[in-house]
Amino acid sequence: MAQEDLGIFKKEHRKTASLESLMSLVKIDLAQVNALILERLQSPVKLIAEIAGYLIKSGGKRLRPVLTLASAQLFNYQGNKAIGLAACVEFIHTATLLHDDVVDDSILRRGHASANQIWGNQASVLVGDFLFSRAFELMVEQESLAALKVLSKASSTISQGEVLQLLHINDLTMTVEKYLEIVHAKTATLFEAATRIGPIIAQKSYEDEKKLAEFGRDLGIAFQLVDDVLDYTAEEALLGKAIGDDFREGKITLPVIYAYQMGDQSEKSFWHKTMVNLEQDKKDFNQAIILLKKYQAFEKTLSLAEQYIQKAKQTLTTFPISPIREALLETCTYVMSRHS
Ligand code: IPE
Ligand code: IPE
Ligand code: MG
Ligand code: MG
Repeated sequence: MAQEDLGIFKKEHRKTASLESLMSLVKIDLAQVNALILERLQSPVKLIAEIAGYLIKSGGKRLRPVLTLASAQLFNYQGNKAIGLAACVEFIHTATLLHDDVVDDSILRRGHASANQIWGNQASVLVGDFLFSRAFELMVEQESLAALKVLSKASSTISQGEVLQLLHINDLTMTVEKYLEIVHAKTATLFEAATRIGPIIAQKSYEDEKKLAEFGRDLGIAFQLVDDVLDYTAEEALLGKAIGDDFREGKITLPVIYAYQMGDQSEKSFWHKTMVNLEQDKKDFNQAIILLKKYQAFEKTLSLAEQYIQKAKQTLTTFPISPIREALLETCTYVMSRHS
């Protein structure tokens, strides 16, 4: 079902917000990041470069490394640590995607068959480990103990988030609080680390570090909330991922929490049958969407995302006006309206 049909994404967002201004402001640095990524995914073990290269070359928005470059630019950082650290952030992200697709048994990523689909789970997990290790090499090379601390902590927190999520799979008693804790750990932590790197390497105050971390965290939480709506509502061709993955595996995300909590007995039984017992037939995904719409579960999820976005924008506006600040503000709006 198209987002337009559901009418849940605001029209003005759809038309205006994009990542374009942000991308153009960091273009030169991003080209270096991409070159470094390609260089560092090489390995004498050919299968590693083949799998890692396949995923990295198949696209991706590069949002997290771009946020690192932008946060450095916000503080007028002139040194050379941002490139390596941005590449490191994308390596961590790519590693989590390889692992996540195995765990979620996903078949489509960035518009192509997922690596686990082509090379199997074992190779995907091992190459994910390789990318994590490469990320650590890049971190250490930059010789910033503070950045190393933030990124290594982020990396262990992401894994904890994914395991916590696994513990709550098929768990309809999941609370909004627990859900947000998982989202914070598995997704927002990397956004937070990515944006915190700017003030760290520019040797700005702890106050600035805290503000940028908060900005990244709020943006990251909103990003995942939107992702969890898109898993039901997006157009597969635009999203580049299979629609309905969360429903199929019984992953309890915020829209379902809302619809389950508000549902009557027979609706609660439907959610039990499909998401706990995983007894699903062809019509069930559509039925789920009908119930999610009935309780405005998508709108409510997006409205919570919007609150995080507003907070992220407020944090940013405490910095002086600059092109990079304006581009970051637009990125906040983009996150609310993204289709991919
Ligand atoms: C996907 O992130 C993982 C989530 C946190 C939802 P992105 O949507 O940023 O993935 P790419 O890098 O653009 O493919
Ligand atoms: C994000 O969760 C997982 C990571 C942080 C890697 P999802 O499972 O929703 O991500 P997608 O939808 O597969 O990209
Ligand atoms: Mg997934
Ligand atoms: Mg998802």
